[in-house]
Amino acid sequence: MAKEKILVIGASGQIGVELTLALRKIYGNNNVIASDLREENPLLKGTGPYVSMDVMNKEMLHVQVIRQGITQIYLLAAILSATGEKNPNLAWHLNMQGLLNVLDIAREEKLSKVYWPSSIAVFGPTSPKMNCPQQTIIEPTTVYGISKYAGEFWCNYYFNRYGVDVRSLRYPGLISYKSAPGGGTTDYAIEIFHEALEEKKYQCFLNEDTYLPMMYMEDAIKATLQLMEAPASNITIRTSYNISGMSFSPKEISEEIKKHIPDFEMSYKSDYRQAIADSWPQSIDDSVARKDWGWQEDYNLEKMTREMFDNISK
Ligand code: NAD
Ligand code: SER
Repeated sequence: MAKEKILVIGASGQIGVELTLALRKIYGNNNVIASDLREENPLLKGTGPYVSMDVMNKEMLHVQVIRQGITQIYLLAAILSATGEKNPNLAWHLNMQGLLNVLDIAREEKLSKVYWPSSIAVFGPTSPKMNCPQQTIIEPTTVYGISKYAGEFWCNYYFNRYGVDVRSLRYPGLISYKSAPGGGTTDYAIEIFHEALEEKKYQCFLNEDTYLPMMYMEDAIKATLQLMEAPASNITIRTSYNISGMSFSPKEISEEIKKHIPDFEMSYKSDYRQAIADSWPQSIDDSVARKDWGWQEDYNLEKMTREMFDNISK
């Protein structure tokens, strides 16, 4: 493997922590620099270098890239769907300018690869609800979705015009136990496990029959690494790949939880996040990712629920 030096931006977030740890296992602790607006992260402490940095400060980012001899960037800093609706200007500004700063530096410094995640939030109410295809009508209604869709086309543009090898996945809602989620509409599917163990009850902010595409974090990390390690010639999508793990509703996950905690009680009181969830597809067709680089998920609802309880209890 060629000597790579990787910068993870947004390393203290829900995905960032686990991706940084996974990259450190592959490339070596000192070859993966974690960075975030936050000063430090207890889960990353002692596992390798950590820099406190704002992705919006392009000059500082550029200096770090040159100083540290960075060859790849994983850009995870963003404002997610629910928080984005509370502050649309900030969400647009961070999600767009952060990406453009990274793409520009990648072009100037001829980085070998860039990773930037998109989301199922690119899809809107006019997209197909079931098995939503890779290429389809895309008319997002949230500022987060608009920023992700625009970002996908910036990635495509930098690849075609400047040859920047930037790769991307449209993650579904990600479910994990290590690091807390950062303000998404799918966060209920994480909160529910903690409340089930602590309180034996949970009030969900989505209606019971709101089906959404979801994925266990292990699968998301596996997909990310697989995509980034695939030969460039296999990558036919330079906007962002559809990717799928499982789909379920709040009612279905509550029934699965009851298999572990029989007296668990679920109630429902939907809020502004219901409209966001209703605008997204219920399931995703990821056949292009399967064909291009061999994507295959390992976790369904039952296996994910078991793992979540085992790990949170520990
Ligand atoms: P998160 O909110 O948990 O983490 C984002 C991190 O970025 C935080 O640690 C935050 O401190 C950091 N950050 C914010 N502003 C910054 C700045 N200006 N400079 C540097 N760091 C900054 O988000 P996440 O869930 O880990 O998501 C990571 C990426 O994956 C995002 O692009 C998100 O849109 C995408 N994604 C996430 C999900 C999901 O379910 N978690 C689903 C689809 C796509
Ligand atoms: N989990 C994310 C959100 O709900 C999807 O991108 O915002």
